[in-house]
Amino acid sequence: MKIRFPSAGMAILTAVATVISIARAEDRPLYLDSTKPREARVEDLLGRLTLEEKVGLLHGDSKFTTPSIPRLGVPTRWLDDGPHGVREDIGPHDWNSAGRTDDYATCFPALSVLASTWNTNLAYAYGEALGEESRARHKDIILSPIADIARTPLCGRIYEFFGEDPFLNTRFSVSSVRGIQDQDVAACIKHFAGNNQEMGRAIVNMDMDDRTLREIYLPPFEAAIKEADVWTVMGAYTKFRGEHCAYSDYLINKILKGEWGFQGLVMSDWGGTYDTREAVLGGLDLEMGTLITGTEKGRPYNEYYLADPFLDGLRKGEYPMSLLDDKVRRNLRVMFATHVFDTRKPGALNTPAHQATAQRIAEEGIVLLKNEGNALPLDISKIKSVAVIGENAVRTNASGFFGAGVKAMHEITTLQGIVNRAGDKMNITYSAGYMKTKAGGINSNLVERAVIAARQADVAIIVAGLNHSPYLDDENRDRKNLRLPYGQDELIRQVTQANPRTIIVLISGPVIEMDPWLNQVPAVLQAGYPGMEGGTAIARVLFGDVNPSGKLTCTYPKQLMDSPAHALDTYPGTNGTLFYKEGLLVGYRWFDTKNIEPLFPFGFGLSYTTFEYSNLKLVTGEDTNAPLVTAEFDIANTGSRAGAEVAELYVHQANPSLPRPEKELKGFKKVSLKVGEKKTVSIPLNRDAFAFYDPSKNGWVTEPDNFKILIGSSSRDIRLQGDFKLAQAITYK
Ligand code: BGC
Repeated sequence: MKIRFPSAGMAILTAVATVISIARAEDRPLYLDSTKPREARVEDLLGRLTLEEKVGLLHGDSKFTTPSIPRLGVPTRWLDDGPHGVREDIGPHDWNSAGRTDDYATCFPALSVLASTWNTNLAYAYGEALGEESRARHKDIILSPIADIARTPLCGRIYEFFGEDPFLNTRFSVSSVRGIQDQDVAACIKHFAGNNQEMGRAIVNMDMDDRTLREIYLPPFEAAIKEADVWTVMGAYTKFRGEHCAYSDYLINKILKGEWGFQGLVMSDWGGTYDTREAVLGGLDLEMGTLITGTEKGRPYNEYYLADPFLDGLRKGEYPMSLLDDKVRRNLRVMFATHVFDTRKPGALNTPAHQATAQRIAEEGIVLLKNEGNALPLDISKIKSVAVIGENAVRTNASGFFGAGVKAMHEITTLQGIVNRAGDKMNITYSAGYMKTKAGGINSNLVERAVIAARQADVAIIVAGLNHSPYLDDENRDRKNLRLPYGQDELIRQVTQANPRTIIVLISGPVIEMDPWLNQVPAVLQAGYPGMEGGTAIARVLFGDVNPSGKLTCTYPKQLMDSPAHALDTYPGTNGTLFYKEGLLVGYRWFDTKNIEPLFPFGFGLSYTTFEYSNLKLVTGEDTNAPLVTAEFDIANTGSRAGAEVAELYVHQANPSLPRPEKELKGFKKVSLKVGEKKTVSIPLNRDAFAFYDPSKNGWVTEPDNFKILIGSSSRDIRLQGDFKLAQAITYK
């Protein structure tokens, strides 16, 4: 690792300048003057801090705070988890609830549901609402969004991810960061970079080639920095080529701070720091959390690696002061960027508008996977009775998000949503059908009662899925397989036999194996973890008030072994190292290139109406500032209901000099259409849409070649295609 040390002379000059600046300070110090440029304020405050105060800013002093400096008015910084809403207050020194009564917050749908909307306006709305709630809860840094790629469907946190595609991740990361940070709160994009499985996350060493890193795992982080100016980044627990991600010289110093010019701070994941020297030199700026495993659980905060051990090293001259100042500057910059010393936006908590946003995300994020014979929507005027079955129909999930649990004022379950919507029009019964147990087996009594209820009803709705129990969408543990637990497959089979009009609603993260029953049921909705208004959203989809428009963000394989990490036997790693053998071929890139039929493809989702695509034109850019080409085409609503369609644009290169996946998503647009309405959609493509990373050039290249522009309703349902000839060879960073 190469680190440049400044000369002793420089250090003395800096010290002299500091003394002078304090001596000349007027009543109102410059750093408190909001009219002054941010960097000037940073330098002014930096110059006033003692060595001890500086080091104090680099580590936590409770689970989610950093120390204040009262003599200078530097406040305690509050961090909090936030992917699904501002987490309830815990600690201060353990993971138990703080027992407050004012820490309720809106519980948004999981990020996997947000991405399934394919509507980036909703990502901004989510970010904005989350930012407002963070401000109202006096948080300075909210630990969202998560930009990790869904590499294996077993990943315990896949429900917190935006999915398997880097382009989709990029657009959702950028929009949500913008929404959050527009509210004077720093977003924290995590977990940089990798962290694609929970199994062994604290120790596993990732080994992937540079092209895979650049094309698949880094793009959302890079875009969040370059396009949305994200202020904080959390390093992953995992190692990258032998170095911990949070202080990997390659990832942090060279790429993040060097190449991308990141000016904000890098924090560790909670307890993800293991060595002072490595952390100091590897680019870590803020150490958070106590170790979650091992013997050092509960270390005093002054013993953190970036606390006394760093201070001692500085005093002994083991580290240059410039290295300390760089870390402090980054911390201060985030404080000034979020107006910690100025008048800040006040924020708002639990507003009807935020709850409406949560509901809208759920409504647009629910994916209709199957709808044979128009089983859905249910006609409220014709149905006299519904049997709602399944423990997930009455289970709430807000508090179950482990590292991201939210104390929601209320949470509308699916049963409640159905009763609210149709309770006065029909007879609604509930039976559990299955029950969460440790053993996980079938409960024949419950099945029997559910079968009787289903037989007596016009329609049965089984609300099945997972529930954040160990190994079932659970942090720190992956799933063991893709099947439904607690005998739900058998429950579905028997209920469907009793009543063929059985609708399946899945409450779970993406990817459930459905082979045992998919052919027997007419309709399936993947509802994800739809947040506090989820039951209302599900009922509105079931009864047709909302026309589903969500699309999958992960490929559903027919069986686990079809997906790349498992087909190549690279999971969970060999002797502590995880070889990303599939390289670029993650998700649909693998299924398409290897011609493997998925159960449901990436980008798939049905509607209650039909859409017709026509009239593709590829309009080439006329000047250098214009996109290289813009795909223009029409979409018409040819069915009998208003609805929204996501048009997906994929690019295929004919003869690349390095192998490329069969096709790659490079654009998408969601359009709402009334019955009979037709709209022209245009998706501009710049050089990024055609480029790939060439390790021999350490940069991105476009090659003069023929490209196919494929416009689809899913990755496997291409409706229009056109040819584009790219003339320029471009190489860029
Ligand atoms: C998770 C992070 C989270 C942190 C603090 C860790 O276990 O990986 O995503 O922000 O805990 O709760």
